[in-house]
Amino acid sequence: MTRTAYRSIFANGTAEERAENFKTYFEFSTKLSGELIEPEKDLVLKRAKLKWFQDNPVRSKQPLPDADKFYRNYVEMHDDPNTLDKRTLLLTCVYKFARHEWVGVTGAWDATPTLAKARNLEDKISRYHLAEEFCHVRLFHEMFRTMQLEEVQWVPLGPTMQAVYRMFPYLPGFILDPPAFITELMGIVFYRHFDALLDVYFGEEPEARDRIRALLREITVDEVSHAGQRRNFIGPKGTAFAKLTLRPLFKAFFHDIKGCELIFDVERMIKDAEEFDYSLIEPEMMAQSWVPSYCLIGEGAPAEAVT
Ligand SMILES: [Fe+2]
Ligand SMILES: [Fe+2]
Repeated sequence: MTRTAYRSIFANGTAEERAENFKTYFEFSTKLSGELIEPEKDLVLKRAKLKWFQDNPVRSKQPLPDADKFYRNYVEMHDDPNTLDKRTLLLTCVYKFARHEWVGVTGAWDATPTLAKARNLEDKISRYHLAEEFCHVRLFHEMFRTMQLEEVQWVPLGPTMQAVYRMFPYLPGFILDPPAFITELMGIVFYRHFDALLDVYFGEEPEARDRIRALLREITVDEVSHAGQRRNFIGPKGTAFAKLTLRPLFKAFFHDIKGCELIFDVERMIKDAEEFDYSLIEPEMMAQSWVPSYCLIGEGAPAEAVT
């Protein structure tokens, strides 16, 4: 039996390989997402997919036991997280994760040139990337609606964190690129763990579970390609630095999501990220995504060739 074999996502690529990868990535991204609708931070093909989900809604038959408890705790945790039922707690964690993403891309959007004013290919890639992230927030919103949580609002962070996220895109590449790569990798790992928990906490209502999973997969396919794209911005030194900072970044980020440790195995997520190669992702999802050439060994490579 043959299979696609991968190197670690921390494998090194030469400067020439990385320049070539930016080209293949942008071709992939425009084909996958369609035309950019700049004023609405949206993409033609992504919008069509979201519309399909909205036009064919699935709504939970077993909504949360106490929706008020979700609304009281989803932006800030006010109750003891131990007192929340696990589905409610899980959804507050997912919201908080997605909210960071939303705040981050909102700040970055204002700091990135429009497609018409892009100075180079990297600028165009970044603009497309950010628009895809805004599409993720819309898909998350549809997940909450699936659970009959129609009142979810996307609330800005406090002034200090908001300022940090606004400043972040103006940092020089050698400082910005490693953590930007790690946060994409964090996205993949978090979504894989969330996907596994759907069977644990939503197994009794397979329709809602499957819809949330389908929405999540749309997001994860993008994150898989984003992680490779952000990886492509950094050379060997930046990659080594990124690996060193992975653990403290994960720890700090998840520490901030109150109650997260009651549901998510943060140590396991860190390990999954440190050891990440694309074989962690199902082949069907990989078929829709993009991998840097230097992380790919090839079709039918013997298992021992994977390093
Ligand atoms: Fe995202
Ligand atoms: Fe992303």
